[in-house]
Amino acid sequence: MKKCKSIVDFIKNIYKKDFIALHEPVFVGNEKKYLNECIDSTFVSSVGKYVDKFEEMLAEYVGAKFAVAVSNGTSALFIALKTAGVKQGDEVITQPLTFVATANAISYCGAKPVFVDVDLDTLGLSPKALKEFLEKNCEIKENRCINKTTGKTIKACVPMHTFGHPCKIDEIKEICDDWHIELVEDAAESLGSFYKNKHTGTFGKVGIFSFNGNKIITAGGGGVIVTDDERLAKKAKHLTTTAKVPHPYEYYHDETGYNFRMPNINAALLVAQMENLDKFLENKRNLAKKYEEFFKSIGVEFIKEPINAKSNYWLNAIKLENKTQRDEFLECSNKNKVMTRPIWTLMNKLPMYKTCQTDSLENAEYLEERIVNIPSGVVL
Ligand SMILES: Cc1ncc(COP(=O)(O)O)c(C=O)c1O
Repeated sequence: MKKCKSIVDFIKNIYKKDFIALHEPVFVGNEKKYLNECIDSTFVSSVGKYVDKFEEMLAEYVGAKFAVAVSNGTSALFIALKTAGVKQGDEVITQPLTFVATANAISYCGAKPVFVDVDLDTLGLSPKALKEFLEKNCEIKENRCINKTTGKTIKACVPMHTFGHPCKIDEIKEICDDWHIELVEDAAESLGSFYKNKHTGTFGKVGIFSFNGNKIITAGGGGVIVTDDERLAKKAKHLTTTAKVPHPYEYYHDETGYNFRMPNINAALLVAQMENLDKFLENKRNLAKKYEEFFKSIGVEFIKEPINAKSNYWLNAIKLENKTQRDEFLECSNKNKVMTRPIWTLMNKLPMYKTCQTDSLENAEYLEERIVNIPSGVVL
């Protein structure tokens, strides 16, 4: 691809490094101080002040009543779905263009994903496609959404805010409400992203974020469940902490729980990261602006935040003309030590999800062949 050299030079000039990763974590605040405090206190594991502190900070930042910190985004989504009532034999609508964890979390519940197309402007679940799918295939019986083709209940819908760009989540919510479907937001990538001035992850019954090493803030690994529903928050806390009934010394567990809690030492790291989140966001938005101007000048499409949205620009992306051009660019940029990645293989093409019901996935297929992520970490 002819333009590769000028793109590589532009990115190298921004980061001024020999090898440029897709998204490196940045520790420039109180990380070491809080980690040392945590180690000195010996409370590095399941008990300690940082987990509570982080849950408070996160809930306040996103405008949710409750936050439950857990071991990673995948476990957060699994528990979010479970507490929203997804059970063995149910179906859950999601987008095919997502990281595999979205579909896996649905599977862990014993439910089956149903794949509905995305919008070209948001890269997230399309409300229009969702509505059409439901009208064509589903009916409401005794307050349940029944998929007439399989006879199963569609219990929940999981839209995902791709690369931090909010999807049309208010329209999706309205459709889910009309069809008695629980809205569970996979906001793993979108901490700091707002839709119509409301934080992503707070539109549905429950939402989740990830703090994996490549995310906008990280705990090494970590996740959080957010909700305004006190009963659900309590249930999520209970399930993710081995379902132990609180007692000073007795061990009594009232159901099969999970050890998904976030260790205090990870939470210490996250508290320090949260303190810098606004700075990271500003830095990333400046980078996106530079990319936008540059790509415009060379005639390559840069993925901008959708209308009505303020994106965290977690991962910047460009849309190339076709698969051949995409493959040439991936080869050339990676060879020149600028890390770039194609968007995910569609979920319905993976062996474990091949038999899932899919609607027409025209947009997802188009994007799958063209979208490439480019380095997006905070520029120091
Ligand atoms: C869309 C999406 N969902 C879920 C996850 C799972 O998060 P984790 O890696 O923390 O388990 C990720 C990220 O890794 C993600 O990008």
